[in-house]
Amino acid sequence: MNKINDLFAIKYPIIQGGMIWASGWRLVSAVSNAGGLGLIGAGSMYPDILREHIQKCKKATDKPFGVNIPMLYPNLEEIIQIIIEEDVKIVFTSAGNPKTYTSFLKERGIIVVHVVSSLKFALKAQEAGVDAIVAEGFEAGGHNGRDETTTLALIPMIKEKIDIPIIAAGGIATGAAMYAVMALGANGVQVGSRFVASEEASSHIDFKKMVVNAKEGDTTLTLKELAPVRLLKNKFYQDVHELYAQAPSVEELKVLLGRARAKRGMFEGDLDEGELEIGQVSGLIHDIKPAADIVDTMINEFLATQKMMKEISI
Ligand SMILES: Cc1cc2nc3c(=O)[nH]c(=O)nc-3n(C[C@H](O)[C@H](O)[C@H](O)COP(=O)(O)O)c2cc1C
Repeated sequence: MNKINDLFAIKYPIIQGGMIWASGWRLVSAVSNAGGLGLIGAGSMYPDILREHIQKCKKATDKPFGVNIPMLYPNLEEIIQIIIEEDVKIVFTSAGNPKTYTSFLKERGIIVVHVVSSLKFALKAQEAGVDAIVAEGFEAGGHNGRDETTTLALIPMIKEKIDIPIIAAGGIATGAAMYAVMALGANGVQVGSRFVASEEASSHIDFKKMVVNAKEGDTTLTLKELAPVRLLKNKFYQDVHELYAQAPSVEELKVLLGRARAKRGMFEGDLDEGELEIGQVSGLIHDIKPAADIVDTMINEFLATQKMMKEISI
C-alpha cells in the first residue's frame, strides 16, 4: 500500500519533477509509461507551447501525468485556463502562495500538490488544502528555499507536523536514497537532476554531458536575493560571484541574470554564459539513460536495499 500510488493511480511512487527546459512531453510520457508520474515543466513554456505539450503527451501515454506551474509565471491565468480546457488532472504548484489557486483547481476535480522547502511553508500548503506536498531539500537542483534545510532534516520535521502525504525531493537519484527518505516518513519521491541526464529530456546534449561529468562540489546555491537557485559553477556563476564581491544591489544582480540565461544554458547549450541548474546529486550521475531505465533501476535498487536492511542487525 502506498498513498502516493493511490493518489495519482500510478504504479511506482516516483515523480519526475517539473523542470524548465528539460521536461517536455517526451520525458513526461516516458516516465508515466514506465509507471512513475511525469510532470510537464510549464515554467519555460509560452501558453500555446504548453497546450501543444499537453496534447502530445495525451497521445504518447494513456497513463496519468501532470503539469508543474511555478506561481511566479507571468501569464498564470492563461496557463490555468489551458489546464482546465485540456482537462489536466494533476497540478504541482511551486514558487508562490498555495492559497492562490488550490481551491479553484480542486473545485474542478484537479489533484493539487505544492512544493515547499521548509516546515513553515508545508503547514501553509496543508492549510490551503493541497492533496500532498513535495518537501524539497537544499541539495536539489533549480530554485530552492532560503533556509538551506537538507532533505535528511526536512522530511522528519515535516512528518512530525503534517498529516497529508509527503513526496521527498532533493538529492534522490538512486533506489537506496528513495528507501532512506521513505524510512524518514516520505510516501514517495520527486526526482529532478537524474532525469535531466535522460535521453528524453529536452535539455541540450552538452548540458547533459556536463551533468554526467559533474563532481562533488561543482554546484552551489546562489542568487539568494532574487530567488535562490542551485546551479553548476560555470563562467556565468563566476561572474555572479565576482559581482557579489562588489556588494551589488538587487537591480544589478537582475541585470546580470538577464531574462534568457536559463534557456541559453540548459536548452541552447551555452555552457559558459548560460545558467545551468542542477542538484548536488549530479556527482552521482554517470550516464545518460532512457527515462524508463532510470525508473526501473531505482525500483530494483529500492527492493535490493529493502532486502539488505532486513538482514542488517544492530
Ligand atoms: C534543470 C532543472 C529545472 C527545474 N525547474 C523546476 C521548475 O520549473 N519548477 C519546479 O517546481 N521545480 C523545478 N526544479 C526542481 C525539480 O522539479 C526537483 O524538485 C528537484 O530537481 C529535485 O532535486 P534533485 O535535483 O536533487 O533531484 C528544477 C530542477 C532542475 C534540475
